[in-house]
Amino acid sequence: MKKIVITGGAGFIGSHVVRLFVKKYPEYQIFNLDALTYAGNLENITDIENEPNYTFVKGDIVDAAFIDALFAEHQFDGVLHLAAESHVDRSITDPLSFVKTNVIGTMNLLNAAKTIWKDDMEGKRFYHISTDEVYGSLGAEGLFTETTAYDPNSPYSASKASSDHFVRAYGETYGLPYVLTNCSNNYGPFHFPEKLIPLFINNIIQNKPLPVYGNGKYTRDWLFVEDHAVAIDLVFHEGVNHDTYNIGGFNEWQNIDLVKLLCKIMDEKLGREAGTSEQLISYVKDRPGHDLRYAIDANKINKELGWKPSVTFEEGLEKTVNWYLDNQTWLNNITSGEYATYYEKQYAN
Ligand code: NAD
Ligand code: TYD
Repeated sequence: MKKIVITGGAGFIGSHVVRLFVKKYPEYQIFNLDALTYAGNLENITDIENEPNYTFVKGDIVDAAFIDALFAEHQFDGVLHLAAESHVDRSITDPLSFVKTNVIGTMNLLNAAKTIWKDDMEGKRFYHISTDEVYGSLGAEGLFTETTAYDPNSPYSASKASSDHFVRAYGETYGLPYVLTNCSNNYGPFHFPEKLIPLFINNIIQNKPLPVYGNGKYTRDWLFVEDHAVAIDLVFHEGVNHDTYNIGGFNEWQNIDLVKLLCKIMDEKLGREAGTSEQLISYVKDRPGHDLRYAIDANKINKELGWKPSVTFEEGLEKTVNWYLDNQTWLNNITSGEYATYYEKQYAN
């Protein structure tokens, strides 16, 4: 049996990846390694928690001794590394925690994998899941390709860029077998409600203001999270060793247009008069260092591995809205806890 450890499997994207792997590969033994920070939530994966090929391990990737012992004990064949501090706004107020988890945590996993695989790298694979934000900001034209130079602007993207470089360096220096992907903005069920789409869905439900940063003319390329999980499965199994792939939705939206579309869907779903939710839009102070535009050229993964998104944005957004409306207990369990305190502090002024 193949032993695979997925880090960050109680988070947003990680929970979808864990679910897919546990269900699709009963022959694999899947370990979900997660520290359960504010962003980790075991409620994201209750449907697979009792599966015989699934084990949850609570632990911090920053703790090198713990990681070394875990890898020594289980002799994993594969690592899918998703654990991270992931929110740009938090990286602006607390950059050091991003260095700890995203850089040092990744280093600890690389070192542990290198140690247990040193005598036989055959069939082993370290998969580092990263972001398109490492490329910095685009102007009005162009797309990020796999050869775009790294130019990170936020402490979050700088920490992810650093970890990407260490993964490549371990491949070159020690021959560590790895693959790496850089993906655009994800959305979908189980997305923590501090990110744009779930935050705004929650605020619309509660009739709270929708804080649009700056003039709202920032552009992101949105991908439905289940399509990302499918791409991750494909790259893990079929991606070329030491190669990188960009993953994106071919789906650019200016924030303000996306927010207006979301308001329209929410009005329909909640039976509110058209235009009601748009009145909640409130332009607020811009994010410092706010990247103007991200957009991915996903042609390489499309041509080489045959991947493309399966849902349109309209379909994905409707699925997402339906999920949040059907799962308000999940939402309330989060917003009534520690996150509510953080959120109130952030927007107190
Ligand atoms: P998330 O914040 O929802 O989840 C992160 C998970 O990692 C949580 O379960 C958390 O408990 C865990 N974690 C955090 N610190 C840890 C530590 N020190 N030790 C062990 N576990 C820890 O993040 P996400 O949005 O699911 O992102 C997952 C990965 O995908 C990240 O590496 C992120 O950089 C990357 N990514 C995200 C997006 C996106 O749009 N969300 C896009 C591209 C790439
Ligand atoms: P976010 O979901 O934080 O993802 P990222 O910063 O990684 O792209 O933000 C998406 C876009 O939405 C980004 O341009 C910032 C903007 N935004 C707002 O305008 N208001 C908000 O409250 C949030 C959280 C984000």
